[in-house]
Amino acid sequence: MLPFYSALLLLLLGSVTAQVTFQNSSTTRLRVDNGTYGPDIEEVHYYYDQWPIGIAVASDGRIFTSYTRGTYRYTLGTVVNKTAERPYPSLDLNLPLDQLNTSYNGIPFGSANSSGFISVQALYITTQTSSRPETLWVLDTGRPTVYNGQGDPSMPYAQPGGPKLVAISLSNNTIYQTYTFPSDVHYPDSYLNDLRFDFHSNLSGTSGKGIAYLVDSSNEGRPGFIMVDLGTGESWRRLTQDYSVLRGFNDVPSYQGQPFYLRQSGMPIQWQVEGLDGIQLSPDGERMYYSPLSTNYLYSVPTQNLRARDSNRLAEVQAHANVSSHGQRGGNANGFEGDSNGLIYQLMPEHNAVYYFDPNDGLTHGFVRDPRIIWPDGASIGADGYIYLNINQLFFQPDWNFGVDTREHPGAILRCKLPNGGSKITSLYN
Ligand SMILES: *[C@@H]1O[C@H](CO)[C@@H](O)[C@H](O)[C@H]1NC(C)=O
Ligand SMILES: *[C@@H]1O[C@H](CO)[C@@H](O)[C@H](O)[C@H]1NC(C)=O
Ligand SMILES: *[C@@H]1O[C@H](CO)[C@@H](O)[C@H](O)[C@H]1NC(C)=O
Ligand SMILES: *[C@@H]1O[C@H](CO)[C@@H](O)[C@H](O)[C@H]1NC(C)=O
Ligand SMILES: *[C@@H]1O[C@H](CO)[C@@H](O)[C@H](O)[C@H]1NC(C)=O
Ligand SMILES: *[C@@H]1O[C@H](CO)[C@@H](O)[C@H](O)[C@H]1NC(C)=O
Ligand SMILES: *[C@@H]1O[C@H](CO)[C@@H](O)[C@H](O)[C@H]1NC(C)=O
Ligand SMILES: *[C@@H]1O[C@H](CO)[C@@H](O)[C@H](O)[C@H]1NC(C)=O
Repeated sequence: MLPFYSALLLLLLGSVTAQVTFQNSSTTRLRVDNGTYGPDIEEVHYYYDQWPIGIAVASDGRIFTSYTRGTYRYTLGTVVNKTAERPYPSLDLNLPLDQLNTSYNGIPFGSANSSGFISVQALYITTQTSSRPETLWVLDTGRPTVYNGQGDPSMPYAQPGGPKLVAISLSNNTIYQTYTFPSDVHYPDSYLNDLRFDFHSNLSGTSGKGIAYLVDSSNEGRPGFIMVDLGTGESWRRLTQDYSVLRGFNDVPSYQGQPFYLRQSGMPIQWQVEGLDGIQLSPDGERMYYSPLSTNYLYSVPTQNLRARDSNRLAEVQAHANVSSHGQRGGNANGFEGDSNGLIYQLMPEHNAVYYFDPNDGLTHGFVRDPRIIWPDGASIGADGYIYLNINQLFFQPDWNFGVDTREHPGAILRCKLPNGGSKITSLYN
C-alpha cells in the first residue's frame, strides 16, 4: 500500500498529466483501437418514432421494416423518406392495442386473429418467379409484450391463429396467402423469430411448391426449427431442444465494454435465455447455417434433415446426427444474412460488427466494424449488392434495464457494399 502522501502526490500529478482521452487520441503516442474496419458505411435512414427490428429491401429499392409491439400503433411499415416511415400496406391491418391480448381463467394469451397483424418480428423478400410475384414475407409472432399496472412487461402465450406467416405481393401490395400453425407445431410458448425460403420443386419431403424454414427462438426453452410446406400449408418441427439450438447457459456478453445481465422490472437479475436466432441457407439450399443468440458457436445441418417428416421415425435422430459444429466465432451473434458467393454474414452486437463465415476455409472473418453499429438487429441484402443493417440499440431498451429507456433517437439503417460482387441470393427462387 502506498503511504498517504505518495498517493496524494500521484493523484495531483495524475490530474495534470492525464489529459489524453479516447475521445481525442491525437495527443497520445500510444496505439489506439479506432473501433473501425471494413468498407465505408452509409447512413440510409433515421428512425425517430418507433424502434425497428426486422428489415427487407425490395428490388425497386423500397425498404420495409417491422417493430414488435408493445405500445406502437403499427407493426409493419415502409420507409417514406430519410426520417419517416408509414404503416404498410395499411394501418387497418394492425390490431388496435387493446385487442393484442386476451385472457382465459386468468392466463394471458395473445390474440387469435389470423387476418390482422399483432407483433411482427421478421421480414424476408423473395424475388419474382414464373408463378409468384416478388413477395414480402411477414412473420407475426402473435405474442405482444404487455404491461401490468406497475409497468412491468410480460409476454402472453400464443393462440393458434395469432402466430402466422403472411405473403404480400409487392406488385399489388396485397396479402395473397396466410399460413397458421397447429398448437403441437407452434407451442403456446414458441416465438417466431426468422424465416428463409426455397422454392425448388424437387425438394424431398415437400409437395413441390416450396418450403419456408422458420426459427422458434422460445425464451421458455423449447427452441427449434419449424418448416412449412407452401403448397399444402402443413407444418412440422425439427431439432427441438437439440443442444445446437439451446441458449448458452448463464451467458454474459459484453456490450461496449460492459458485461450485460438481463435486468427486467419486477424480476431478479437474470441471463439472456433466447435460443436459436440467426439462420441462413447456402445458395444451393442444401445446408442451413444457424446459431442461438446467446452462444459463440455456429452450426449447420443439411436441409434434407429439416425437411424429413414425422412419418420417418428416425427423422429427429438423423437430424441430430447430421448437425455440424463450425466451432466458435468470437462472440454472440444475432441475425444472419447470406450472399450469392455463399458467405454467411452474422450480426455481432458485442463487437459493433458484422462477421462472415466462409465455407471455403471454414473460418469466421471480420467484415465491417463501426462505433455506429450499436446492436445490429436485422440485415437484408438488396439487388444493389449492399447489405442493409437495422441499428436499434437493443441493450439500452427499458425491458432489459429495469424499465429505464436509455436508447437515444434516432435508430438507423446503415448500408455497405458486399465484397467480390456479392449480391442477394436468387438461386433459391427460380
Ligand atoms: C485533439 O487534440 C489536438 C491537439 O491538442 C487538437 O488540435 C484537436 O483540435 C483536438 N480535437 C478535438 C476533436 O478536440
Ligand atoms: C482503423 O484501424 C484499422 C485497423 O484496425 C484500419 O484498417 C483503419 O484504416 C483505421 N481507420 C481509420 C479511419 O483510421
Ligand atoms: C418525411 O415524411 C414525413 C411524413 O410524411 C414528413 O412529415 C416530413 O416532412 C418528410 N421529410 C422530408 C425531409 O421530406
Ligand atoms: C392484456 O394484458 C394486460 C397486462 O397483463 C392486462 O392488464 C389486460 O387486462 C389484458 N387484456 C385483456 C383483454 O385480457
Ligand atoms: C382481425 O383484425 C383485423 C385488423 O384489425 C380486423 O379487420 C378483423 O375484423 C379482425 N378479425 C376478427 C375476427 O376479429
Ligand atoms: C395481388 O397479387 C396476388 C399474387 O399475384 C394475387 O393472388 C391477388 O389476386 C392480387 N390481388 C389483387 C387485389 O389484385
Ligand atoms: C433440384 O433442382 C435444382 C434446380 O433445378 C438442381 O440444381 C438440383 O440439383 C436439384 N436437386 C436434386 C436433388 O435433384
Ligand atoms: C446427412 O446429410 C447428407 C446430405 O448432406 C445425406 O446424404 C445423409 O443421408 C444424411 N444422413 C442422415 C443420417 O440423415
